[in-house]
Amino acid sequence: MKPVRKAVFPVGGMGTRFLPATMAIPKEMLPVVDKPLIQYAVEEAYAAGIREMIFVTGRHKRAIEDHFDTAFELESALEASQKHDLLAMVHAIKPDDMTCVYVRQPRPLGLGHAVLCAEPLVGDEPFAVLLADDLMLGQPPVMAQMVDAYAKVGSSILAVQDVPSHETKRYGIVDTQGVSGDLVVIKGLVEKPAPEVAPSTLAVAGRYVLNPSVFAHIRQQSAGAGGELQLTDGIAGLMRDESVYAYRYNGARYDCGTQAGFLEATVHLALKRVDLHADFKQYLRGLDLG
Ligand code: UTP
Repeated sequence: MKPVRKAVFPVGGMGTRFLPATMAIPKEMLPVVDKPLIQYAVEEAYAAGIREMIFVTGRHKRAIEDHFDTAFELESALEASQKHDLLAMVHAIKPDDMTCVYVRQPRPLGLGHAVLCAEPLVGDEPFAVLLADDLMLGQPPVMAQMVDAYAKVGSSILAVQDVPSHETKRYGIVDTQGVSGDLVVIKGLVEKPAPEVAPSTLAVAGRYVLNPSVFAHIRQQSAGAGGELQLTDGIAGLMRDESVYAYRYNGARYDCGTQAGFLEATVHLALKRVDLHADFKQYLRGLDLG
């Protein structure tokens, strides 16, 4: 079994739900406290032992390339002014043993299409997919848990979490046919079902470990809703040929593609910061919540 060495970050979407912020700034560069969403995702992949980061970018996404580039003028200035802590922080954005490669998605034709754009860089080996707008907090980090699970089964794995039954219509929901446990074979996958017809309350989150055989299945799909190629449809095709697992991860997910999720993540992470905790907590306590 080949190890998971590469991670794909599809960042080619338009981020319309976050307009006007995303007119000139990629959604993935929006900071939660002071770190951009994409950096949380890259750090999570790195913590899982992954060193090759593949970004599927689009128009107006140059800021992501700049973020992971060497900022030599900034580094020289920080060095000259002896700001060693800041210098170390800037260095840590891209550790020396990490490679970043970029491929363009010429049009935002869906998540499946974005993943397909990474095929020439992924080649014939298993790979991780991380959607940066799902901010995942886990200990160990969620992708590290998934890479461990992959080492056990050698099959594609989707991260899932239990959601309240009235929320099933917001997510892809897996059918595990009554089997319970943290790592179970998926029998089916339904996009955004109403609670009455949902096969479970296990919702797919934006973390995947996929075998390269998924590419052929994405390619076979005809464009679905909105002319887009959906990753879910490709995975449903893959499930007909080989086992695909759902992994119930240990951790929390913040949907930072929505304003509410983004705010929740901000409050949560600000409260965890030792330098902000005391004052911010006091501020929250004093709020008149109407
Ligand atoms: P979303 O469904 O959140 O779409 O994509 P979006 O365009 O980013 O945002 P909204 O819905 O318009 O507000 C989930 C992830 O898939 C990527 C996005 O960049 C995001 O990280 N994606 C989506 C692509 O890379 N390409 C696409 O064609 C679509």
